[in-house]
Amino acid sequence: MKKKKIKGIILAGGTATRLFPLTATTSKQLLPVYDRQMIFYPLNVLIKAGIKDILIIVAPEHSGQFLNLLGSIFEKHGIRIEFKVQKIPKGLADAFITGEDFIDEGNVAMILGDNIFEKDFSAEIKNFKSGGMIFAKKVPDPERYGVVKFDENNKVVQIVEKPKNWISDYAIPGIYVYDSRCVEAAKQAKHSERGEIEITEIHNYYLDKDELSVSVFDGEWMDAGTFDSLLEAGRIVKEKEIYKNFDHIIDEAIKEFNNEIKEIAKKRLR
Ligand code: G1P
Repeated sequence: MKKKKIKGIILAGGTATRLFPLTATTSKQLLPVYDRQMIFYPLNVLIKAGIKDILIIVAPEHSGQFLNLLGSIFEKHGIRIEFKVQKIPKGLADAFITGEDFIDEGNVAMILGDNIFEKDFSAEIKNFKSGGMIFAKKVPDPERYGVVKFDENNKVVQIVEKPKNWISDYAIPGIYVYDSRCVEAAKQAKHSERGEIEITEIHNYYLDKDELSVSVFDGEWMDAGTFDSLLEAGRIVKEKEIYKNFDHIIDEAIKEFNNEIKEIAKKRLR
């Protein structure tokens, strides 16, 4: 089968009330994680994998700040960034409905704007052909996540969103690669108790067809949704020198952005 073009989506909406008052004035994904805004970490995963078309889904309150930071810095590096405003959070899987025209007939890698990884996923993303591809990691608090249960032959037997009763220690992180059928899957999915379309519905759509791959991965995985995890993320990024692993496009784009701002500041001082 011929490989289809792959595009990227970053989910950076939501109100992040757990981080108030920080997120009363800016978006969670624009808060600093060590030396740069959080959004650069998921952007790095996509850009490292050679993805050139990226849709960022943002909340209305902070959309201007995203545009200010990311609206033009990648253009000359051949990367197109589009934005869509999501007024009300409707669940992660709703991103595929919001992004239907953007995804078109292609494949899509979606990453949550507050998930930070040590691992480089570029080989997996580049080699993806069709179906669904997700990842798993052993965690001490699986009830906080989408969880996957394996049988003794490492075959996936069950996937549940935030299980009340323990089924497995393997959590599914916020990086998902699907073919374009994810749009249909999201449209068909039933709403959960919290009134949202859960991403686990999409995993199960592919699992039922026996077209889902789940790989256990190594390295740090952080979600920066609370004061402690945000602080911890910055500390780990520094300690493990994760900030040195950025694609040169990102480092250059940030440098150019900084120079532009410095020029503007100089003019203001005159
Ligand atoms: C979401 C997903 C969950 C996933 C987690 C990863 O949870 O619903 O399946 O394991 O992200 O960070 P939420 O952050 O919305 O509680």
